[in-house]
Amino acid sequence: MKIDVMEDFYKLLHPCMTILIVSISREGKLNVMTCAWNMPVSEDPPLIAVAISNESYTNQLIKETGEFTVNIPDEKMLKALWICGSKSGREVDKFKLAKLTTTSSKKIAPPIINECVAHLECRVWREVEAGECTIFISNVLEAYCNQEVFKKGVWDIEKISLPMHLGGKLFAIPTKIMKPP
Ligand SMILES: Cc1cc2nc3c(=O)[nH]c(=O)nc-3n(C[C@H](O)[C@H](O)[C@H](O)COP(=O)(O)O)c2cc1C
Repeated sequence: MKIDVMEDFYKLLHPCMTILIVSISREGKLNVMTCAWNMPVSEDPPLIAVAISNESYTNQLIKETGEFTVNIPDEKMLKALWICGSKSGREVDKFKLAKLTTTSSKKIAPPIINECVAHLECRVWREVEAGECTIFISNVLEAYCNQEVFKKGVWDIEKISLPMHLGGKLFAIPTKIMKPP
């Protein structure tokens, strides 16, 4: 028997890779937010998409300057993920609160988060208004990561625990690699 889960429809598409997005204002003020709705959309040119709520400070800043970094955390950063996903940079300095430090990016103004294991530097290509979110389809200008956890283009999940968002306060970590027969 199937049950109606319309209320939670999007969670049928979880767990989702959970990332930290760093954005910047024209005056140079930084912000960081947790984002589960993210995906690659093209290899050539390299494009990703993130869906960001119109109410968030991050949405305002990305519309303002058109640049952001994607930072990939590990399990140790679960507390930081929660802080950056439940408070707004309009009210608090989440870098201080979540004890996150930054280093300059190679090509864009928003920095990367040192505590994360991988980084993408992104510049917005198209904005699509979709319900309460804006989908920022963005060019990936640079992508780099810690070499010991990503080998031959694949995450080494024995060495890294990647938090995936299940919904609410629940996360899952991939632990088993499989191949089709
Ligand atoms: C695990 C997790 C995933 C989230 N994913 C998204 C997302 O994909 N898009 C979004 O707009 N908000 C998402 N949020 C909520 C924002 O992170 C939250 O509204 C945040 O406070 C916005 O911060 P800002 O106002 O400083 O930009 C998520 C929150 C959590 C905890």
